[in-house]
Amino acid sequence: MQKSNQFQYPVSDLIKNRRSPRAFSNQPIEPAKIYSLFEATRWAPSSTNEQPWLYVYATHDQTELWTTLFDCLNDGNKLWAKDAPLLILTLARKNFSRFPGANAHAMYDLGGANSFLSLQAVEMGLQVRQMAGFNLSKTIERVRIPSTYEVGVFIAVGYPGDPEMLPERLKLRELEPRERFLQQEFVMNKAFD
Ligand SMILES: Cc1cc2nc3c(=O)[nH]c(=O)nc-3n(C[C@H](O)[C@H](O)[C@H](O)COP(=O)(O)O)c2cc1C
Repeated sequence: MQKSNQFQYPVSDLIKNRRSPRAFSNQPIEPAKIYSLFEATRWAPSSTNEQPWLYVYATHDQTELWTTLFDCLNDGNKLWAKDAPLLILTLARKNFSRFPGANAHAMYDLGGANSFLSLQAVEMGLQVRQMAGFNLSKTIERVRIPSTYEVGVFIAVGYPGDPEMLPERLKLRELEPRERFLQQEFVMNKAFD
């Protein structure tokens, strides 16, 4: 499959400037900016407007809750997420609240809301890195998550830091060009053969 590190066509600056760095400054995030991140998720689209997402967040100065979230991460993520001034655990309600039955699109909607959060972060000079690398059973136990919720990802948020502060291996990956499949690899203008 063909890849390139160039934009093929023009896109919004928010998309162009978004990336997922690992180097975070320990500068705290202003509370108003934290609320704007979650406000962005409020206005994300969702199946039947269910808005199934739920966010558990902790700032670095909320030591107990921040450490509870941090302890759930894989060791590889702990290496760099230790400096993130804001950690967020993202959850999705499994069942519809106004209809009987499971919401098959709850995780889809959570992902969409998380993308809104990520782009709002760029708008405010913040950076976001999502993490699927965490211990699920520990997360459920430590955060006491009810069985009505499915765990999505963790998200680290903060102001850009100095890549020089990262361990050597991560520093090199941080500076690598980002590659993407070309559109022709994943866009079809016909039915399958
Ligand atoms: C669902 C999801 C899970 C991810 N999990 C991790 C993770 O556990 N650790 C990590 O360092 N990055 C993780 N990432 C970040 C991706 O590696 C990153 O988005 C990808 O390499 C593309 O880079 P970019 O976001 O800078 O464009 C995850 C991203 C997503 C969307």
